[in-house]
Amino acid sequence: MEDQIHTLKQWIENSKYTVIFTGAGMSTESGLPDFRSASTGIWKDQNPMKLASTDAMKNNRYGFIEFYQNRVEEVEKYKPHFGHEVLAQWEQEGKLKAIITQNIDGFHQEAGSKNVVELHGTLRKCHCSECKETFPILRFMEEKLSCECGGFIRPSVVLFGERLMEVSLIHAVRETKQAELFIVLGSSLNVSPANFFPIEAKENEAKLVIINMEPTEMDDLADLVIPQRKIGEVLQELSQ
Ligand code: APR
Repeated sequence: MEDQIHTLKQWIENSKYTVIFTGAGMSTESGLPDFRSASTGIWKDQNPMKLASTDAMKNNRYGFIEFYQNRVEEVEKYKPHFGHEVLAQWEQEGKLKAIITQNIDGFHQEAGSKNVVELHGTLRKCHCSECKETFPILRFMEEKLSCECGGFIRPSVVLFGERLMEVSLIHAVRETKQAELFIVLGSSLNVSPANFFPIEAKENEAKLVIINMEPTEMDDLADLVIPQRKIGEVLQELSQ
């Protein structure tokens, strides 16, 4: 295991353009549960389609509102951990050019990272489903959910059944195409189109690294896999 860390340290030092791709496993050490961890994942005993989908927003509105109000409360209760701070430090040192994240907790920006692509949106804002006007998430938490235009005000996250924001996709493609080193932190790589980016990086001859507690869908594609290690600890070792 030690030589894997040593190898990755060298790759990071030698890379002119490193991009990091994060999933929910990046925030579990802050206290936020992920989605598919065998024992604690949110989707272990809840159906995402009944809570985090356009159908849920239409046909299970109270369940939808309650689910996202709980998630906002959790995000506001916890904060970024040392690993988020390491990534922000690397960006300042020029060792990391961009973060592409599936996470909606805003922890990368809170830790100081600047160039962050939020593929699945953010829980820090809400917007009207009709006129798209955006508001601080407080309006959703206070349940002032009717927009002046008559639309429904919902969290600014990408729901199952929705397309990703064009501007985020374009930004993520641009960063991925430039990557010499593409490091996945804490994602099962189960969900498309987000899981297209590690493949795209590989197709652009980047070195692909996957650091994840459990096996992922793309381990056999990677140049280096560091399994069964906590991301916080690995980032600590890499930053020494
Ligand atoms: N260190 C290393 N790996 C970890 C840690 C940790 N501390 N904690 C969790 N993991 C790993 C788990 O083993 C799991 O494989 O992180 C992975 C998280 O995978 P998922 O729970 O599937 O989360 P993610 O890949 O981000 O899900 C993608 O699915 O529900 C949607 O929109 C939601 O953005 C989310 C998307």
